[in-house]
Amino acid sequence: MSTRVALVTGGTGGIGTAIVRRLAKMGYNVATNYRNEEKTKAWRDKLKGEGIDVLTVKGDVCDPASCEAMVREIEQKIGPIDILVNNAGITRDTTFHKMNYQQWTDVINTNLNACFNVTRQVIDGMRTRKWGRVIQISSINGQKGQYGQANYAAAKAGMHGFTISLAQENARFGITVNTVSPGYIGTDMVMAVPEEVRAKIVAQIPLGRLGEPDEIAYAVAFFLDDKAAWITGANLAINGGHYMGW
Ligand code: CAA
Repeated sequence: MSTRVALVTGGTGGIGTAIVRRLAKMGYNVATNYRNEEKTKAWRDKLKGEGIDVLTVKGDVCDPASCEAMVREIEQKIGPIDILVNNAGITRDTTFHKMNYQQWTDVINTNLNACFNVTRQVIDGMRTRKWGRVIQISSINGQKGQYGQANYAAAKAGMHGFTISLAQENARFGITVNTVSPGYIGTDMVMAVPEEVRAKIVAQIPLGRLGEPDEIAYAVAFFLDDKAAWITGANLAINGGHYMGW
């Protein structure tokens, strides 16, 4: 079997970097997209120092044309994409009565519409080759809702609706589609939550701490294994016991 190619969107972020690092160490050929060239170069150099080579391609997940160009460039440089991790995401937290249209659409575009924009470009190839793995990085807050996150919770819940529909449509082509729903992980995104609010959130986590980015990457790797071939349409919650709904 030739080396499988994985595209991790938003790979330079907190959870994204952990996924890229883990997949690369497992021997996958990993690509990610970027918008800021300078920031990405520093990130790539840091990983290179660890012996990890990542293909970085300019691409805006909110823009369908940009996603098409990005996927074609990856295919041309390292081959067809076997694994897609829809990980790119942003927050624009505010209570709904203060939320403006821009805060709503920015979050829906980056977190949810991006799943269409990127997956649409890779799914035909996976169906033709009869193998694929598509993973959405959703959130605990798509499952339980969150004060100040009507936009984010709507997008993240939508991602799992996307997962379970794609899982049904593509199962007979050897493609599994699953969701990983992280709880509060110690990334810049979570550290941006005001400290006193964050302390209250951590107090609600039975395991008593924030999660580590690699604890999410570990779950992504699990879904990629050939032995995980019968798992599709699942939503794996990894949140320190913060939310145990089913
Ligand atoms: N339940 C009930 N009341 C709450 C509350 C909650 N969970 N959170 C805040 N409030 C209350 C406050 O106590 C305050 O009350 P008073 O006015 O009586 O003092 C009031 O709501 C604040 O309301 P505002 O309208 O002033 O709120 P705001 O528009 O300034 O927004 C906020 C505040 C942005 C929601 C802020 O509380 C916040 O950042 N909360 C955390 C949101 C969060 O968890 N984001 C996750 C980011 S990380 C991530 O998203 C990754 C992931 O997937 C987990």
